[in-house]
Parts: sequence; structure tokens; C-alpha cells
Amino acid sequence: DAGKSGYDHYMLKEIHEQPTALRQCLRGRVDELSGIVTLEELDSVGSVSDVQLVACGTSYHAAVFGASLLCDRGVRATAMLASEYSSERVPVDSSTLVVGVTQSGETADTMRALREANKAGGETVAVTNTVGSSAARECDHALYIRAGPEIGVAATKTFASQQVALTLLACHLGGEATHELVRTLRDVPDQIQTILDTSRATSIAQTYVDSDAFFFIGRGSQYPVALEGALKLKEISYEHAEGFAAGELKHGPLALVTEDTPVFAMVTGDDEQARKTVSNVKEVNARGAPVVAVTDGQTNVDRYADHVLEVPPSTEIGTAITANVQLQLLAYWIAHELGRSIDKPRHLAKSVTVE
Ligand code: G6P
Repeated sequence: DAGKSGYDHYMLKEIHEQPTALRQCLRGRVDELSGIVTLEELDSVGSVSDVQLVACGTSYHAAVFGASLLCDRGVRATAMLASEYSSERVPVDSSTLVVGVTQSGETADTMRALREANKAGGETVAVTNTVGSSAARECDHALYIRAGPEIGVAATKTFASQQVALTLLACHLGGEATHELVRTLRDVPDQIQTILDTSRATSIAQTYVDSDAFFFIGRGSQYPVALEGALKLKEISYEHAEGFAAGELKHGPLALVTEDTPVFAMVTGDDEQARKTVSNVKEVNARGAPVVAVTDGQTNVDRYADHVLEVPPSTEIGTAITANVQLQLLAYWIAHELGRSIDKPRHLAKSVTVE
């Protein structure tokens, strides 16, 4: 218990450690004036024609986020589930950079994918939290996320740190960071602190704890956040939760929506993407489902939402990091209401070393 620093669970402690974890991840890597991102550990990476990110579980959601940032910067990138990865189906050569995103650095599926990519001639990078792990030792390069030890089985601070480390990787491979991005990364630890100090996730958890199922929707950078929100909730509460790309809702999942299935909608920014997600929110609202909008208040989504979980205005990257913190708190408090074994959920392990 001493290690919990007064928190009831390691998970809650680790959620609260995120501002510090992200500052550690950024330290010495971004020059605020020039916007230059320096990742010395990747200086010797050769020329890269495409990036394949391989990962499992929560780390896969970070990989989806990272792939989309790389694509935004003109680097061809795909995120793949490590257990589905095959260097025969997705060709690998010496200009392919295969990035294993793995907190522990020991996940068997991810290690197999990395070894296979290495054998096929690809250059490999481990994005990991664990110095000296198998991934760090066996890959050509290691980019440490510097989150500090994570004890709770459900990954929290390591996900946020992976999001930041992959943002830096995308800048390193795809050109310098803009001043706007540098500001985003500088501000995000304080913004997370604001959420930790003011979140209303506890009362929303109490309101919806007895629901039949929980759905999460998001577009673009918020799509992996929706997936991660659902995974976090199912891992620690054992409740049925699903994350969907907001645009897919009408292609099937809408049939599941009832007045007993709250829909958590990530709506940030005020662009076309956000406006389309507001339309999706209207659709579920019209079918009687309660809606909780996770929003920076830049659209009128609050008109169609029963509750709002606020995130500070930022860029697409910033709000994808902060929105996830609201979902972590939501999952924690629902599991808490249900009296679950939050730090050690049934059937799950922190690190899975079998395929
Ligand atoms: C296990 C954990 C998950 C984690 C996944 C990948 O299933 O329970 O929380 O996301 O492994 O772990 P890694 O260490 O490779 O990031």
C-alpha cells in the first residue's frame, strides 16, 4: 500500500502521474524556440519509405494514433495488430521502419512481429517504457517513453506517454514540429492536471453504472481514443463496452443503441470532422440514448448531449491526449462503483508472454 501514495489503487495513482510522466517524456527532446525535435536515439535510422507500427491492446491504440500523425506529415504508415502481422503479407525491405509499440517490451505477439520484420530486412524501433527489455535489446533502436513504472494491469500513463513519444517520432521522421505543436506538447501536462482537478467523471459514472452497455465514438485522432476508452472500461469493470469510428455507427452499431446504452462521443475542434460527429450524436440522441460529450466546447454538441466532460481547447493532438484522461477516470469510477479488482482484473496480465 505504501506504493500507492494514499490513492486506493495504483491505477488512480498512475492516472494522476500523467502530467509528470509527459514532462519526463518531453525533457530535452523539443526546443521551444526552434520547434526542433531531437531524438538522438533515432539519429542513425536510415532512409525510410514506409513505417509499420505493430502492437497489442492499449499500445495498438497508441499505434493507430501514431500512424495517423505520420500520414498527416507525409510519411506512409500503417498500424497493425502484432498478432495479425506477417512480413509476407505486408512487404518489408531495408527502407521499411517497423516500430514495435510495447510498454513492457516483452509482449510475445509484438516480439514475434519485430523478429520477423528484422529477419525480412526491415529496420526496427522499440517504443517502450522498459530499459533493457527484450524489445529494447533486440530492436535496432529504442525510443523510451519514460513514463516510470506502471503497476496497474490496465495501462494509463503509458498510453499518454506513447501518444507523446509517437508524436515526437512523427516529427522526427516527417519534418520539424510547428510552433503550434510545440505549444500543444508544452501545455498538455497542465491541461491534464486541470482535468484531474475538475473532472465530473465520478458523478457520470454513478449515473450510468447500471447501463446495459457503453459505446464510445470518435473520428480521426479521436478514433483510437474511442477504442481505448472502451477497452479501459471493459478491462476493469467487466461491462460490455465498444468503441467505434463515429462514421461507422450508421453501418451497424446503431442497431444496438437504446435508452440504456450511453454513448460517449469525442467531439473536439470545430472542423468538418467535429461537425460530422455532432450529426452522429444527433442520430443517437434521436433514438433515445443518453449522450456524454467529451468536448472542448468548440461545437454546439452540448445541445444534444445529456452531460459534458470538458477538455481544454488545444490542437487535434492535444485533445486526443486529454480526452483519454476523462475516459480513464470514467472507467476507474465505474469499476470502483462496482467494487471490481481494479489493479488486477480477472483473467488479465500486465505482460502477456504467450502468443
Ligand atoms: C496486456 C495488458 C494490456 C497491454 C497489452 C500490450 O494485454 O493487459 O494492458 O496493452 O498487454 O502490452 P505492451 O506491454 O506490449 O504494451
